[in-house]
Amino acid sequence: MTEEFVRQNMKGYDSGHDWWHIERVRRLAKHINEKEALADPFIVDITALLHDTADSKFAGRNGEQGYSLIADYMDSCEMSEIKAPVLNVIRNISFSSGEKYTILNDPLLCMVQDADRLDAIGAIGIARAFNYGGFRNNPIYLPGKESENSGKSTIGHFYDKLLKLKDLMNTSTGRIIAEERHKILEKFLEQFYSEWYFVKDKR
Ligand code: ADP
Ligand code: NI
Repeated sequence: MTEEFVRQNMKGYDSGHDWWHIERVRRLAKHINEKEALADPFIVDITALLHDTADSKFAGRNGEQGYSLIADYMDSCEMSEIKAPVLNVIRNISFSSGEKYTILNDPLLCMVQDADRLDAIGAIGIARAFNYGGFRNNPIYLPGKESENSGKSTIGHFYDKLLKLKDLMNTSTGRIIAEERHKILEKFLEQFYSEWYFVKDKR
């Protein structure tokens, strides 16, 4: 039933933020918790399920409206007891708010945030980035703006965020998976530039 609540409230999100993102984050969070054994599996699953429900970028809601929607939902199905820790994660999970909370001493937040970030890198992360860029009608690449002032291009987003995520992992399990996925980003960029700046082979 929580699945149905989440599906209903994510209508209108871009397709990189769809139900399957939620499923992947659930699976990753479960895996991390199995390795790290830091929290009750049910709370981890509920948090992963609900983590994007209040996203103010979509669905025309502001953050507070989203949080109270979740709070009311949890009260309505006897989850009031875990409401506070779950909402704490949802409030603090995003990249931008994450930067403000550099000391992450909540193991639930650590694990679900790692799971969410892992889904933004590797092959899936690349697919999601270009999907989001398309959704916003952003250019794929603005030459000369690879770092810092990257404009709004999707390749720019790699430098603004995606390439940084490996070093922002909270758990050692997350770090191991991130290392692998980070290499995919680097390989992709190398190939991307070699095709963009194609020079006929001089052999
Ligand atoms: P979070 O809310 O988890 O911090 P976002 O909602 O900002 O992250 O991003 C969700 C997905 O959309 C990620 O895969 C991210 O890389 C992608 N994304 C966000 N902003 C951009 C952008 N400007 N260009 C391309 N992809 C983006
Ligand atoms: Ni997410």
